[in-house]
Amino acid sequence: MCGIIGYTGPLDAKKVVIQGLEQLEYRGYDSAGMALQTEDHHLLLMKEAGPVAVLKETSREAKVRSHCGIGHTRWATHGGVTDTNAHPHTAGKVTLIHNGIIENYHEIVERFHFREELVSETDTEVAAWLINHFYTHSEKGPAGNPYRALCEAVRTIKGSYAFCVLFEDIPGKVFAIRNVSPLVAAASSVGTFIASDLTALISYTREYFVVPENHVVVLEEERARLLDLEGHEVEPQMLEVNWDTEAAQKGGYPHFMIKEINEQPEALERTIKPRLNGGLPDFSEENIPDTLFTDCEKIDIVACGTAMYAGMVGKSLLEPMLKIPVSVNIASEFRYEQPLLDERTLTIIISQSGETIDTLAALRLAKEHGSRILSIVNVKGSTIARESDYVLYTHAGPEIAVASTKAYSVQLAVLYLLVCRMALVRNCMTEEEAQSFIEELLKTIPAIRQVLGDLTPCKHVSERMVSARNAFFIGRGLDYAFSLEGALKLKEISYIHAEAYAAGELKHGTIALIEKNTPVVAIATQEHIFAKTISNIREVKARDAYVILITKPGADVSSEVYDIHIELPELSDRFTVFPVAVILQLIAYYTSDGKGLNVDKPRNLAKSVTVE
Ligand code: AGP
Repeated sequence: MCGIIGYTGPLDAKKVVIQGLEQLEYRGYDSAGMALQTEDHHLLLMKEAGPVAVLKETSREAKVRSHCGIGHTRWATHGGVTDTNAHPHTAGKVTLIHNGIIENYHEIVERFHFREELVSETDTEVAAWLINHFYTHSEKGPAGNPYRALCEAVRTIKGSYAFCVLFEDIPGKVFAIRNVSPLVAAASSVGTFIASDLTALISYTREYFVVPENHVVVLEEERARLLDLEGHEVEPQMLEVNWDTEAAQKGGYPHFMIKEINEQPEALERTIKPRLNGGLPDFSEENIPDTLFTDCEKIDIVACGTAMYAGMVGKSLLEPMLKIPVSVNIASEFRYEQPLLDERTLTIIISQSGETIDTLAALRLAKEHGSRILSIVNVKGSTIARESDYVLYTHAGPEIAVASTKAYSVQLAVLYLLVCRMALVRNCMTEEEAQSFIEELLKTIPAIRQVLGDLTPCKHVSERMVSARNAFFIGRGLDYAFSLEGALKLKEISYIHAEAYAAGELKHGTIALIEKNTPVVAIATQEHIFAKTISNIREVKARDAYVILITKPGADVSSEVYDIHIELPELSDRFTVFPVAVILQLIAYYTSDGKGLNVDKPRNLAKSVTVE
């Protein structure tokens, strides 16, 4: 995610833009930049890597009088965290800021011969050149029409975007258009505004409108005009702000965690779809050679916490598919285990922050042993990303809540893409099998939307969970791998002691802990071991446990086995982790909230553990 602000009006545009960026910084903080139209009709462009505070300091010296400008905070997706890649980007007469991912930007570069013009590594600069092209070469009428330039550009682009544009020869106006990525706009007594969300607007006005997709907004000093792609003026649907600033940063949700849980469908789309080519996984964008996958004889996955539990799911898929040893290692242990690895070992590092010190140390150790490093990271340009041989970025956007949710799902998504690519190039999967694997992966997105569409079962479970002192999460095979993350979620935000256990292992000791009403979340989504898991559930039910059973739809199970039965959307066994993860996140969230705890900032924890 990135933060966007545009303004025109009587106020000092530099001040309005900087204040707006400060409010939007939670959306991305790799770099910040702004473009200001000065009173003498020049364009002042300032942008650099680093937080908004750096831009604010740099711009302090700039004595400029401006009443029209745009600003951007970046969460890097294409191109490293550098000054050059920071937004705004200027191309000819166009200066542009962007939030989103342009999926066909390579094709646009070739089709319109932009290669020689490009100075950055971003897809955004390509969009700027495209809009400039249609602004100066429109085939559908005289050049110099900003509205038509935007319409023709978005008809060429595939992907998600929120563009804010200044045209060199059109002073005092800001143009914008969106598809998927959010934009809100407002007109007030002190000018007109456009931004990624309300946080940047609500200190000026309580009235706003959500910019409809593929409609052009033209900010003029007195009004914010809305036109559809056919050029018709459209009356915006005005809304009333009823949030304070902090609430607005949460997009109206009570906590960042529930907001981020709800962002998972879009995060998965941003992470999966740009890496598909003809329905098959394609890592050419990240310059990852297939030899990395064909040459390795074993795989070591190393991470901490939730990232490590994502690795457990990865192992459960990779090992049977590739028929090579796959180990999952706790980074803080891996460092002291004299691991057996060499240049024939592929080490996969998983980290949301890319700064976890134990994971970084494990990366360096693996490198010393000659292993090649592939990392799965959410923060562009982070230390782990920079020290890896290859990086597959997840596109979850900033994850603010300490408890990882959307980052876990997108880590899984990258692992699924990796499994499929590795199986394909190692001839463990035919192209047809790979295509149906990817089709199943894409079905997880509507499946998650379906789970998010009915929160009642999870709220019902949490009503029982809030009074628990202990809880168990059990499953077999992949279901056991899922249960590890579910237990961690509950523990870290509700402070209930929760333990994940291989269902078949309970009777070897731990079942002694089961007493009347002990909550047991039983995950039974894997058909080939379903009956075995049900018999383990009967064992805890026989001790009066309170069983929350999660199965695929239509599972053949007697109601005497469970107290609550949550049925998943239809998915094949290997893909049930995605809706299961969301259900377990929601159970943990509503339990913590029901206990009146600080969901986003649980005690004793930090978002990124940079101490050993
Ligand atoms: C998960 O909810 C926690 N926030 C924690 O376990 C986290 O996953 C772990 O510290 C690893 O962090 P990283 O992914 O940034 O490396």
